[in-house]
This record gives sequence, structure tokens and C-alpha cells, in this order.
Amino acid sequence: MAVGVFDSGLGGLTVYEAVAKRLPDVAFVYYGDNAHAPYGVRDAEDIYQLTCRGVERLWAEGCDLVILACNTASAAALKRMQESWVPKNKRVLGVFVPLIEALTERQWGDNSPPREVAVKHVALFATPATVASRAFQRELAYRAIGVDVEAQPCGGVVDAIESGDEILAEALVRSHVEALKRRMPHPEAAILGCTHYPLMQKAFQEALGDNVAVYSQANLVAESLADYLTRHPEFAGPGKVSKFLTTGDPVSVSSKATQFLRHPIKFEAA
Ligand code: DGL
Repeated sequence: MAVGVFDSGLGGLTVYEAVAKRLPDVAFVYYGDNAHAPYGVRDAEDIYQLTCRGVERLWAEGCDLVILACNTASAAALKRMQESWVPKNKRVLGVFVPLIEALTERQWGDNSPPREVAVKHVALFATPATVASRAFQRELAYRAIGVDVEAQPCGGVVDAIESGDEILAEALVRSHVEALKRRMPHPEAAILGCTHYPLMQKAFQEALGDNVAVYSQANLVAESLADYLTRHPEFAGPGKVSKFLTTGDPVSVSSKATQFLRHPIKFEAA
């Protein structure tokens, strides 16, 4: 038994790296649905079906706790999964709640009623499917009052990062930030709501300016998971060795993942 990390493809490795570093004694099973990536341009039904299939595969590996590292799956599928599909003895958690808890200065897992918070203007950068779901605004409204959110669907950025075209990715980041600033000239905080965007954090920060606090998920998710496992140690499991599963071709996924993380990583067929 281990903790499952689900993603549409390679981007979730940014989350895996952070959780594995924060929790060196916990074994993880990573599942990348590379055969069906990217999710960011799919519709909600499709994302729900694919995410359920991946989570079932992780359950079969003994992962009673699964983290959806993928923001698009967290946004478009998680609520429906939790409400009608996840059995009582399993847990599936997403990446938005830790981000929102950090943004609204809450303790991890604090479910008290919504209240006024310091931040009033928040920019959200995410995939088209995540923006369309409005899940971020919904989760924020459970926790904070009076926060204005302006969301920018960042078409093209994931593809540019995956194909290793940093110059294009930076140019796209600048143009998406400009587009958002036309609608919200002075955001106080910006959420990088996609697994891939931490790799572009410097470009986002430069385009937004130094006075904008940029929130990126990997370390926040790691801290929140560490806290969750302290409160629910039964979900950590006795496993010792992490493994990496893909629905794509393990050889080419391993080579892309090695490039992506800049150290060797070996995937096997899911
Ligand atoms: N993992 C997705 C996310 O965090 C980005 C890649 C995709 O579109 O599948 O939203």
C-alpha cells in the first residue's frame, strides 16, 4: 500500500517531486494518463471518466488515498467523484483546497465558515477546462467572502512546455498575463492552477511584477498532505518503493519524464 498520485501526464511529476521530498518515508505510485493527455481541452464528462479509470487503477495498487495532482481533474471531476463514487474506505483529494487554504491564511483542513480575508483581487491562470469548471471560485466561496477572481485560460502553454519550447512558453505566459491585466489591472495574488506552470513561475512573476504574490501548488500540496497523514496515518501505508505507471508508451514517457525532471525516471505500463 502506498499513496497514489494521479495526473493526466507528466506535469504531476512537479507535485510528486515535492511530496516525495517532504515525505521521504512514504511510498508513492504515480499514474500518468499520457495516452489521453492533455485533459485541459477535454469536456467535463470525458475528464470524469478518465480520472475514475486512473483512480481505480491506483486503488488496485493498494493506494487507498489518491491525490489528484492534475488541476483539470481536480476542477472538473473531483466534486462529482467525492459525492457519488468514492467508497467510504477510500479518499481522493485534489490540489485546489491546499492552494485556497494558503491564500486565505487558513490552517490545513480548517472547514469553518467563510470569512473576510486580506486578499481581494486574485488572478487565476489555468487550462481552459479548469477555468470553465469555475471550481476554484466555488471552493474559494466556501472559505472567503468578498474576493474577486479573474480567470485566464492559458491555451498553448502546456503544449509548449511539453514540447520543450521554452521561448514559446514564455511568450504565451506574457500574453496571457497581459490579457488578464486588461480585465484586472492590479491583482494582489496569482494562482498558478496547472501542474506545468511552476516550471514557468519566473516568467509569470516577471510579467505580473514583484508586488504580486504568486502561489504555486507543489510545496503547498506537500505540506497539506504531510498534515493530512499526521491526522490519518492509516493512509500512508507500509510500502517502501515508489513506482511510475503510464497509459502511454513506457519507453518514450520515461525519456520525456527524465528530460522534464532532469534526472532518470522509469515508467512501466499501467
Ligand atoms: N495536468 C493538467 C493540469 O494541471 C495540465 C495538463 C493537461 O491539460 O492535461 O491542469
